[in-house]
Amino acid sequence: MIIAVDGPAGSGKSTVCREVAKRLGLRYADTGAMYRTLALASIREKISPSDTNQLIELARRIPLEIHTLTSGRFEIFLAGEKVTETIREPAVNQIVSLIARIPEVRTEMVKRQRALAKSGYLIMEGRDISTVVLPDAEFKFYLDADPSVRAERRWKEDQAKGTVSPLSRVQEDQAKRDEMDRTRDVSPLRVASNAICIDTTGKRVGEVVHIILGKMNVKREKFNAFYAVTRRFLWLLAKAGFGLEIQGAENIPQHGGFIIAANHRSFLDPVVAAIASPRQLTFLARHTLFRNVLFGILIRGLNARPIKRASADRNALRLAAGLIMAGNGILLFPEGTRSADGGFLTPKGGLGYLAVKLGCPVVPMCIKGTFETFPRHAKWPRQGKISVRLGRAVHGDDFGKGIDDGDLYLLIVKEVMRNIEILFSSA
Ligand code: DC
Repeated sequence: MIIAVDGPAGSGKSTVCREVAKRLGLRYADTGAMYRTLALASIREKISPSDTNQLIELARRIPLEIHTLTSGRFEIFLAGEKVTETIREPAVNQIVSLIARIPEVRTEMVKRQRALAKSGYLIMEGRDISTVVLPDAEFKFYLDADPSVRAERRWKEDQAKGTVSPLSRVQEDQAKRDEMDRTRDVSPLRVASNAICIDTTGKRVGEVVHIILGKMNVKREKFNAFYAVTRRFLWLLAKAGFGLEIQGAENIPQHGGFIIAANHRSFLDPVVAAIASPRQLTFLARHTLFRNVLFGILIRGLNARPIKRASADRNALRLAAGLIMAGNGILLFPEGTRSADGGFLTPKGGLGYLAVKLGCPVVPMCIKGTFETFPRHAKWPRQGKISVRLGRAVHGDDFGKGIDDGDLYLLIVKEVMRNIEILFSSA
């Protein structure tokens, strides 16, 4: 999934994009930061903003490194130095538009931006993302707001960072940059014909995010009160009884379907996963568990859905796909069954199939301590400590296209298992 967002300075793009990225577990890329870093490098190398040839040469060789994280965080490095904050300085503001209007500079930056977007699952913001950089993006938005509101937002941001320029100066600078961005010959700021326009004047961040998610038709699981109460109760029990410790729950996207992939060693694992996930999960459970009518009603009430092991994977995958597309989070155990000796088993490919076909995030989860507290043939749990670690989501899109589908599914599953094992060794 790729979302392209364009709009003038101060339209709220960055804040909104970071929030959407966080909620959907997407990577976030700020392309303005790339032009800014170039401007910063030119200042440091004492290249005049009018020396086009030197600027083009700089754009071609600049050692830019970009770290995009699914938590909505974005860091940019110039020759190994983190400059994410430095590039917001007034000296950069003053010259960046002059540099961004040089066609050859843009060609170079666009190349890098496309490379960044290659692995997909990303929200990218700028001025020409939906028109030039990623014209095939699945979703395109154009954010705008009253010029005075936009200038005030920038001014407040600057103040918070300790930069003191009068509001009138910020307004003037912004008007100049707007003009340059809109009237330049190459890739001027304009609304793509199929973009959705949102006026953010007077709207809170949450409202704009809500509009975007609504337009994208992103769904979420239905709230289940019985599940919520039971989870709370079990959480207290697990804290008191097993000193349950959870880290990394923020890696679960706040909207849309997703998969939690966990290692499996004990009957306690689904319960522990449910406690650790801030969003309510749906579980695929062996149909024999529903034979006891009362127990069946209980687990159905807790979002368990029966699957037949015998008719195996095709039906289970179909059910899982439907649930994910409807905006649910499901728990899967890539190893298929509980490990008898507490070690890791070879994972199966079904998880990879879902990740690729649905393009949904797969959040790796390691569950440690359940084997010791409740192993396979035990009747009752024993004393012990349980800890859970969740890692950054893995996306089907992260992996090379052109690989044979079957190989790709296994590659993803292996990567997820590798992440689980890394989390396990650090837990
Ligand atoms: O979004 P920003 O203020 O950080 O952008 C800095 C400058 O870079 C601004 O003058 C517009 C320009 N820019 C551009 O020309 N194309 C982009 N895709 C992103 C930013």
